[in-house]
Order: sequence, then structure tokens, then C-alpha cells
Amino acid sequence: MPNNLLITGGAGFIGSHFVLRHCASFAEDKVVVLDKLTYAGNPDYLKSVEREIEFVKGDIADTKLVEKIVKDHKIQSIVNFAAETHVDRSIEDPFPFLHTNVLGVQSLIDVCRKNPGTRLLHISTDEVYGDLSDEDLPKKTTDPLRPSSPYAASKAAGDMLVLAAIRTYGIDAAISRCTNNFGPHQAAEKFIPTVIRTASADQPVPIYAEGKNKRDWLYVTDHTDAIEIILKADWSGDRIFNVSADDEKRNIDVAKMILKILGKPETLLKSVKDRPGHDWRYALDSSGVRNLGWKPKVSFGEGVRKTVEWY
Ligand SMILES: NC(=O)c1ccc[n+]([C@@H]2O[C@H](COP(=O)([O-])OP(=O)(O)OC[C@H]3O[C@@H](n4cnc5c(N)ncnc54)[C@H](O)[C@@H]3O)[C@@H](O)[C@H]2O)c1
Repeated sequence: MPNNLLITGGAGFIGSHFVLRHCASFAEDKVVVLDKLTYAGNPDYLKSVEREIEFVKGDIADTKLVEKIVKDHKIQSIVNFAAETHVDRSIEDPFPFLHTNVLGVQSLIDVCRKNPGTRLLHISTDEVYGDLSDEDLPKKTTDPLRPSSPYAASKAAGDMLVLAAIRTYGIDAAISRCTNNFGPHQAAEKFIPTVIRTASADQPVPIYAEGKNKRDWLYVTDHTDAIEIILKADWSGDRIFNVSADDEKRNIDVAKMILKILGKPETLLKSVKDRPGHDWRYALDSSGVRNLGWKPKVSFGEGVRKTVEWY
């Protein structure tokens, strides 16, 4: 059965990979992309499919616009990648994060509430679970949310609104929470692009504190594979899916690996003042999506090489 899809934030990093993947695998589906084109969005990422999709520049918080798209195109599923995503920016100014990650999500919920044939898959983050120590077990979908940054708090609020709407209005929705993604198309200010950009220009590579914080890395196309599986899954369970490749690495080790690929010296690494409220570690128990048959295909080393090549 063809599916009419609204992909919000589809010109961003993960969203653009999802659009490309979906168009390649499900040519019979209608795909509408709604994106505000902030600094993180780039319509060029969608050039190869521009004839296959409809692109609308706009804001997910504009409920009338979202509802018009849903009605005009008989949208059956909304996949929401639209978000303000950079933790450091959220520390400087949380308000744009509240606009998109909270009010924008409520706007999508409202449209689903008024159009019961439309379901919502909301993309969220491991950061909603908050900081883990080295001894903590990976977070389960039933664990409480303890966000540390304004970004993570805004994402947790969006998740809570989705869960509340499932219970109160009976909307058909699910949430997918993933670990740190990497790959082509990511905004230049994020960690891996920053290391590649600065090292390539023989500039100091900034590393927060001693770089010992750990992140769990997921190659972006492995993530989009998981989203396709979740989109087609039965959502009558706990409706939250964690997605993780279980590949934890210290930031300093990631930076050193990229320097090695680029043939640059480790003397470029420069410790900078730590991020306020910096979480030490994130880790997820992703047994739910793995039980549906998903597993990552791209190793960290292969993914980093592809990413360096692309930048
Ligand atoms: N990148 C990661 O490592 C990561 C990790 C965990 C979770 N996530 C989540 O995945 C989703 C996608 O992340 P990403 O890294 O691709 O983000 P991104 O910042 O690269 O892209 C976000 C996209 O959303 C668009 N956008 C922003 N505000 C909008 C609005 N109000 N209306 C319409 N479009 C808007 C931007 O123009 C951009 O194209 C986000 O929800 C994020 O929280 C990302």
C-alpha cells in the first residue's frame, strides 16, 4: 500500500538521508518535505530527488500550513526531524528551541488530533535520559527523563507532549530516540564536522576539557534504516524505540582517529573550557528495534572514512 508521507526537517542532516533513502526504496509513496531552512537545512541535499518530492519551505509551528499540507496531500504519516539541535546554541539562547522542539511538536500533534488518519513518528534523542556514569546500564525506554541542557529539556518536553496526546486524544504516534549520528550532510558546527574542518585547515581542533566524555556513535544511514522499520512497526506497545549501534567512544579517540585519516598531527588537538552541564556519557538499550530485525551495518571506522571523504 503506498503511503503519503510528510517529512519535516527533511533538508537537515538525518532528515535528508531519510528522504533520499525513502525515495529510493518506496518510489510509489508520495513524499512532501516541510523545512524552515535554518542554517542547518540545505535543499541541495535533496537535488537528486527534486522531481520525486514536493518541497515546502515553512515552519512546523505554523499549524495552518501543516494542516493544509496534510489535507491537500492526504498525508498518512508525518516523520518529524525538524528541530533546533545544537546544544551549545541552546545554552546561549533556549527560545528558538522551545519554539520548534516544543510548540512545533504540539502543532504536529494538533494536526494529527484533527486528522485521525494521520500518524506521527517523532524523532527524539538519547539526551532526554540525561547523564550516565561509566557504571550505569544503558537506558531503557521506561527509564525516567533527566535532561541536562536546554536542548535536551526541549526535546523531553516534545516527547512528553506526544505521550500525553497518545493517552488523552488517542492520536497514533510513536517516538524514536537515537544516539549521536554521524555522516555526510551534518551542520559544520557539530563535533565530527568541526574536527574535520579545523584539522583539514591545520587549525587547532577544539576538544572540551580532556575529551574523555563518551558518546555512542550511529552512522546516519543505519539510523534511517531503523526509522523505516519503526515506521512500519506495530506501535501498540510502549511506543518508544531506542536506536543505538552500541559503539561508545571517547571524544578524544574520535578526534585522533580523524587526524590519522587526514594525516594530521595530534599536536593540533587543543583543550578548551568544558561545556556547562556537559553530560559524561549516553548509552541506550535498543533491544526493541533490534527485536524488529534492525542492526547497524556500517562500522565506526568505515563511517568515519566515508564522512571525512564527503567533507
Ligand atoms: N544529529 C544527531 O546526532 C542526533 C542525535 C539524536 C537525535 N537527533 C534528533 O534527530 C532530529 C534531526 O536531527 P538533525 O541532526 O538532522 O538536525 P539538523 O539540525 O541537521 O536539521 C534540522 C532540520 O530542521 C529544520 N527546522 C528547524 N526548525 C524548523 C521548524 N520550526 N520548522 C521546519 N523545519 C525546521 C532545519 O532547517 C533543518 O533542516 C532532531 O529531532 C534531533 O533532535 C539528532
